[in-house]
Amino acid sequence: MAHGRITGWATHLPERRLTNHDLAEFVDTTDEWIRERSGIAARHVDGKVTEMSTIAGRDALAMAGVDPTDVGLLLLATCSSDQQFPASASVVQHKLGLRCGAIDMNAACSGFVYGLVTAMQFTEGGVDTILLIGSDALSSVVDWTDRGTCVLFGDGAGAVVIQRSADSPTLLGWDLMSDGSAAGILSCEHGGKIFMNGKEVFRRAVLAMESAARNAMDRAGVTMDDITLVVPHQANIRIIDAAMKRLDIPREKAAMVLERTGNTSAASIPLALVDALDDDRVAPGDLMLMVGFGAGMSSAAAVIRWDPPSY
Ligand code: COA
Repeated sequence: MAHGRITGWATHLPERRLTNHDLAEFVDTTDEWIRERSGIAARHVDGKVTEMSTIAGRDALAMAGVDPTDVGLLLLATCSSDQQFPASASVVQHKLGLRCGAIDMNAACSGFVYGLVTAMQFTEGGVDTILLIGSDALSSVVDWTDRGTCVLFGDGAGAVVIQRSADSPTLLGWDLMSDGSAAGILSCEHGGKIFMNGKEVFRRAVLAMESAARNAMDRAGVTMDDITLVVPHQANIRIIDAAMKRLDIPREKAAMVLERTGNTSAASIPLALVDALDDDRVAPGDLMLMVGFGAGMSSAAAVIRWDPPSY
């Protein structure tokens, strides 16, 4: 249990938008195939992690009313950093005028939930204000001739400000897992392009989501009925549906932006979260379940009691 409270949030998508129809002009695919197999209709491309993160981070800080110099730690979840080193977090730290430690965290598409759980531990450890960003630009590493992968991914960033609070705990239960024996089914070499065994990723993703969600809920001492909003990793509508069915949670409880963003990796959960918050889908005291999976194979889930900021 931890006491960090989300006090600001924002997202950013790069300007260039590619619909399925746009894609079909240079890839052997159709809008119908992509929608039916994944639920995706469009995605944004040509983003840069440092640029998207800076915009989302700046707007989240403004919403929280936090002066950049008061941030005690910057965590940037990404697997597509602009360069091998320095960390994109260091570049974002400078652009935002922060004066604190800054690290990239790579847990692929599970990165935001890994970052959230980590941030909550730092608030327990005495850091008052943390800026957590999930951002990826997978359009830079997809093979645009591989129709099995290039239709799925997009770019984006989502940021939250987490502040220590004396109130009752907000992170009620969590689960972080990795199964490195499956590292080869979804990977990208330095300087290379994404390789994916789609069927195997699909099969394992459903099981990983279910297991992470159950473990986090068990540790929080809650059941599916107690959850108001599920924020799943936005990879594929069929994976989300299959996992929700196994968990016996109705689809209406899920936050969903996949259709217009594609799979934005570490940005996907904050993009869906912010969309749901902006739609007032949770009230004070409601429980949210965030659950993700990704290359690694990593998986992560967190049960959060919604304790909104009072402005
Ligand atoms: N457009 C049209 N046809 C396509 C296509 C595309 N974009 N991509 C693949 N196909 C074809 C294949 O070539 C194959 O043709 P064939 O039967 O003539 O050989 C056919 O469609 C079926 O391909 P298959 O790979 O069996 O499809 P699928 O039902 O498994 O769906 C995925 C493919 C990638 C959508 C699905 O496996 C998936 O979503 N996996 C998980 C991916 C994921 O979420 N990754 C990120 C995890 S963080």
